[in-house]
Amino acid sequence: MFTQPGEVVLDPFMGGGTTLVEACSLGRQAVGTDISSLATFTAKVKTTPLLDDDFEEINDWASGSEDRLNLRNHPVRATEWIEQGYQKNISGRNTWPIRKTLELALGSLEELPSEKQRDFVRCALLGTAQWGNCAVGIRFSQGDPFGQSVSQTPSYSPGVNGARS
Ligand SMILES: C[S@@+](CC[C@H](N)C(=O)[O-])C[C@H]1O[C@@H](n2cnc3c(N)ncnc32)[C@H](O)[C@@H]1O
Repeated sequence: MFTQPGEVVLDPFMGGGTTLVEACSLGRQAVGTDISSLATFTAKVKTTPLLDDDFEEINDWASGSEDRLNLRNHPVRATEWIEQGYQKNISGRNTWPIRKTLELALGSLEELPSEKQRDFVRCALLGTAQWGNCAVGIRFSQGDPFGQSVSQTPSYSPGVNGARS
């Protein structure tokens, strides 16, 4: 420990902001910068406290997910990002449900009343997307996407199968 409570910790390469979170939890003030907008977004979310009311509203929003994330629904496409090459890892034959689920979830974020709640959910979705894409990628590389052979079309739960758009 090189600082005392109340002193300032600076992390000029803060990444996802773990140092800032730990500094705050130990009673320090924390300042961070990063060249990556993704890193600053993640760090901002991780260092923004949510209150009980925020969690309640996020829970209410999440409880409507079954209808909201039905893959037969039409998502809002992020055309500008797609044109720039984003989403190419989650738009394949085996990964499009991840892409569409994310689009449906992101498209309904405006139902949440505050920016910090929306950012919290965006950050959670980002983590889920990275995990999901990784999991599919690993299984696919093993020739076993969704527990089937590579030549078969993967199936999903009954209400959503074949709902690609
Ligand atoms: C290993 S991570 C930092 C981890 C963080 N310090 C921690 O303790 O959790 C390195 C970070 O440095 C950032 N970075 C690299 N070059 C930079 C630069 N010239 N200015 C600001 N940040 C930079 C990267 O974007 C990356 O997020």
